[in-house]
Amino acid sequence: MGFSINKIHEHFVGVIDGLDLKRTLSNSDVLKLNNALDEFGVLVFRNQILTDEQQIEFSKVFGTIELAIGGNVTKEKDRRLSLEIADVSNLDKDGKIFTRNDRRRMFNLGNRLWHSDSSYRKIPAKCSLLSCHSKPNFGGNTEFAFMPAAYDALDDEIKKEIEELVTEHSLIYSRGLLGFSEFTNEEKETFKPVRQALVRKNENTGRKSIYLSAHIGTIVGWETPEARDFIRELTEHATSRTFVYAHEWNIGDLVVWDNRQCMHRVRPFKDTGEPRDMRRTTIAGQRETTKQLH
Ligand code: OGA
Ligand code: MN
Repeated sequence: MGFSINKIHEHFVGVIDGLDLKRTLSNSDVLKLNNALDEFGVLVFRNQILTDEQQIEFSKVFGTIELAIGGNVTKEKDRRLSLEIADVSNLDKDGKIFTRNDRRRMFNLGNRLWHSDSSYRKIPAKCSLLSCHSKPNFGGNTEFAFMPAAYDALDDEIKKEIEELVTEHSLIYSRGLLGFSEFTNEEKETFKPVRQALVRKNENTGRKSIYLSAHIGTIVGWETPEARDFIRELTEHATSRTFVYAHEWNIGDLVVWDNRQCMHRVRPFKDTGEPRDMRRTTIAGQRETTKQLH
């Protein structure tokens, strides 16, 4: 049986109806979903109550799972969920809400900044799939910004200026924006900056994106203050409300986004008072966006 895609925003976001994600999809549905991701950037599925295993299985429709290693400050022994799942909840391994000054909570506050998942990896993520298992009574929307539309709206002069630029990304830079600056030597090694192209082109649609993220710390060959000011201006443009969709979560929602073409952020909620159990699978990208220094 086929499924329908309903575009709900001027620029992007498709709501998919008529699929049960617990079932094995046909090859033509798999192709259609991957094409939809290229075209719509964000895909919304409602009323899908999935186990972690079912989410992992469905995620493989989009490629190979990227393991949740090297992306946070939670020690392996303290994990609540398996390595295939990035735990973006506010819960510890016993299901208790992080206390106010918990270092993991401080680190996770970085998700409130506009970013693209795993842009701090040499091969950054293709897409992410986030499922809602419990939600706070107030706040906690996830917002998405569509970078092809933001790119198209740039002046030709800026398009020319950014075409060949290369940026450096690290979790140390994004956390630094909130004043989180103390890292162990091991974390510093894990979070070493990587290089990314600032302009990416979708191979399927031919559309270009500005590849932005809070993880950016500088532009190769630029002085850092000038680079950060330039990136801040681009980010402000790229996250204007016309390019943004805000997702209000319900339990059973699964949202897939293309990290190559979208930024996202979580909006504030009372994270020390109410559980917000969100579980993310991530699909690895296929190649670097530019040459690395190391
Ligand atoms: C993520 C993320 C957003 C949210 O899962 O990658 O940034 O709404 N989280 O929790
Ligand atoms: Mn994220």
